[in-house]
Amino acid sequence: MQVFNRGAELSAALGNEKVLTGFVPTMGALHEGHVSLVERCRRECRRVVVSVFVNPTQFNDPADLRSYPRNLEADLKLLEAAGADFVYAPSVEDVYPEPDTRQFDFGQTDKVMEGAHRPGHFNGVAQVVSRLFAIVQPDKAYFGEKDFQQIAVIRAMVRQLQIPVQIVPCPIVRGADGLALSSRNALLTAEHRAAAPQIYAALKAGVEFSRTATVAQTERFVTERIDSDPLLKVEYFQIVDADTLLPLDQWREGVATRGCAAVQAGAVRLIDNVGGYGPYDK
Ligand code: PAF
Repeated sequence: MQVFNRGAELSAALGNEKVLTGFVPTMGALHEGHVSLVERCRRECRRVVVSVFVNPTQFNDPADLRSYPRNLEADLKLLEAAGADFVYAPSVEDVYPEPDTRQFDFGQTDKVMEGAHRPGHFNGVAQVVSRLFAIVQPDKAYFGEKDFQQIAVIRAMVRQLQIPVQIVPCPIVRGADGLALSSRNALLTAEHRAAAPQIYAALKAGVEFSRTATVAQTERFVTERIDSDPLLKVEYFQIVDADTLLPLDQWREGVATRGCAAVQAGAVRLIDNVGGYGPYDK
């Protein structure tokens, strides 16, 4: 495994030869969820490239950027074991020699849910992912479905910028208690960590409830269930069309659904999502 701090050197090492190249962009503090992406990439591609970069332009809260966990040494060990060939672990200056002033507009996709609650977040994601794609020029890029909306935004970006890459969504990896794996879980207090599995439990209970309830009733049910734990506070829970990410006002036959939540657990903000809501999407 070769590790690069400079994009120009990584590009030169990758060369122009046509080799099926898979890419897993990450912000480090890697866990089993990331490992599953790298392993899938390893199975499907000749060459596996991983980036480890905490991208400042996607943080709308400076305190969140400061506290984001970082542990490159441990990350490199995990990546070597998972089969990565190339790692790009750059400085901010290498990725942004000059400030990126591009403003993207992906219609509704980046305006709802995370887009509404974290202004500028998806613009920063599009900035960094487009830069990383330009350096790595991957054939396939792997993203975890925990960031369900991020995948829709990146698909929209790839269409808009006409980048020839296949976006591969990968299932959420959960702990034995159901909590979706996230780098942020490491920041939870023991009390909040014990409460956090209630989020997935409520999302799943909501699926059952939704078979005989309206969208609004289901949203209320899930929100109240999570909020009934005094250590958790729902920022939003919304059931959306899984393709367009537009909020649903009623169940529609043939429309796949996704229930997406953001929950404050003490100082840590967690997101999660589950599909299959309503009487039709079973
Ligand atoms: O999902 C993430 O970890 C980040 O948003 C990404 C895609 C690596 C861009 O910084």
